[in-house]
Amino acid sequence: MKQYKAPVLSNQQVSERYWHMVVDTTIIDSSIDPGQFFHIKCADKYTPFLRRPLSVYRINKNTVEFLYLVKGKGTTEMTKIVEGETVDLMGPLGKGFVIDPTSKTVLLIARGVGVATLAAVAQESHEKNIHCVAILSARRKDDLLAAEFLEGFGVEVYKVTEEDGTSDVVDVRNMIVNEVFRKYKIDCIYTCGSRRLSQMSQLIGEQFDIPGQIALEEHMGCALGACYACVCDIQEEGVTKSVRVCIDGPVFPLSKVVL
Ligand code: FES
Repeated sequence: MKQYKAPVLSNQQVSERYWHMVVDTTIIDSSIDPGQFFHIKCADKYTPFLRRPLSVYRINKNTVEFLYLVKGKGTTEMTKIVEGETVDLMGPLGKGFVIDPTSKTVLLIARGVGVATLAAVAQESHEKNIHCVAILSARRKDDLLAAEFLEGFGVEVYKVTEEDGTSDVVDVRNMIVNEVFRKYKIDCIYTCGSRRLSQMSQLIGEQFDIPGQIALEEHMGCALGACYACVCDIQEEGVTKSVRVCIDGPVFPLSKVVL
């Protein structure tokens, strides 16, 4: 595991609740995969003590971008980092998504800030000529930040929100089954950001025999496998076992995760 002081190239508010940070990663010599995360020190002081895990939103040759939701002390401190300062990063950490280059069409199902994690899947899929369909769910239209970014990669985006009454899980399931599945044979489902949408994704994956992958979001302490703050359960061959999201994940086979 490596720790870096990486220069911040920009850190800007992009909607009422979301910020976008671009970090120069020239000094990072390992490859970075969609679904991996960095453990970020939010401020150059003792509090907040714990780092925050942020998955990569966009992976470029010499930069990485993060899209983050400001909801607590740590992320509020992060908004105070200005261009030209450095940010203390540990990573890249964890096991990311596997994107099979033989896939033709994949389905992304994201809720809220979960889209920040799946955007990197869309980016790599685009590079591999894989067509993506995305269901983006959010509280408000303002929170559907990554829609344009995904559309830039040729992703076919369906937007659902609480604000306009379209984000109910049953309605989303019907949309997937009656519209998406009628148009495309889906090779893989990728999901992140909502337990209820993930449960629905797991069920339709089982029902239609489509493999899937899920990025789990858990509170983390060390992000190195030592503190067990991030344990969740998976099922393998009928046996439930505990895994650490930080080092065994955060990406797991959708069919195995106990939701
Ligand atoms: Fe410490 Fe995962 S965060 S074991």
